[in-house]
Amino acid sequence: MKIIKTKRELQQFALEIKRSGKTIGFVPTMGYLHAGHMSLIDIARAKADVLFVSIFVNPTQFGPNEDLDLYPRDFERDLAMCTEHKVDVIFAPEPQEMYCSDNTTWVEEKKLSGPLCGASRPCFYRGVTTVVAKLFHLVMPDFAVFGWKDAQQLLVIKRMVRDLDFPIEIIGAPLVRDTDGLALSSRNRYLSDDERTRALAIHRNLLTARKTVEEKGLAALEGALEEARQGITASGGRIDYVTALDVDTMEEAVSGSAGLLIAAAVFYGTTRLIDNEVIEFSK
Ligand code: PAF
Repeated sequence: MKIIKTKRELQQFALEIKRSGKTIGFVPTMGYLHAGHMSLIDIARAKADVLFVSIFVNPTQFGPNEDLDLYPRDFERDLAMCTEHKVDVIFAPEPQEMYCSDNTTWVEEKKLSGPLCGASRPCFYRGVTTVVAKLFHLVMPDFAVFGWKDAQQLLVIKRMVRDLDFPIEIIGAPLVRDTDGLALSSRNRYLSDDERTRALAIHRNLLTARKTVEEKGLAALEGALEEARQGITASGGRIDYVTALDVDTMEEAVSGSAGLLIAAAVFYGTTRLIDNEVIEFSK
């Protein structure tokens, strides 16, 4: 497995691969890898000739009072996991390599990134779209894999790729849960045992809301969301949002909507967790 630290070497290596006619698959990550990341990597591995993974805790997607400095890191463990899962190339730049100190250019999606995490974390999606656009220019992948765990991120990236004509297929990979139902996240390690048990309420309540809407339709949505909010609050969670939107437009779901994203962001202690359920409506 090749480890590359500079943009120049990365782009040159990617160009050589492209010129040889091989396909490039790409999984961007912020490291501290877990089984959720490995499921993205395995999907990409099965499809690509050459598989690139980036490990970069992107400073521009963290707000001033967020957990950039505390964000968990374990590069050696990440490398071992990537070797085991047959990754070909790791790109792990330092922040000063990735961004010029006087960087003044940003990539911003202006609609789908507005609600949910975009509302609570104003810099977040601008940082994500900017770093992913830069990574796409460097890696030049044929396809890239993103998880449904970060459903809004996946939709925003798909929109950016469409609007800016990146010749890249974006593949959405299913959300992966621990055996107890908690959605896998690098931030789960911040939870105490007690908080972790309480946090299971997120999935439990979103699942109940999902079942209610599947059985009774959109008319039951507001009631189902309110019940979920109450259940999550009763578990000790401090709700950022528990809501539902049309999965294509990120607007209010209506009877013609193709699908519904039921999404939650909840704090247990100081740890902010996100989770979601997606219902596809048959036409
Ligand atoms: O999902 C993540 O880990 C990050 O937002 C991403 C896509 C790697 C960009 O920094």
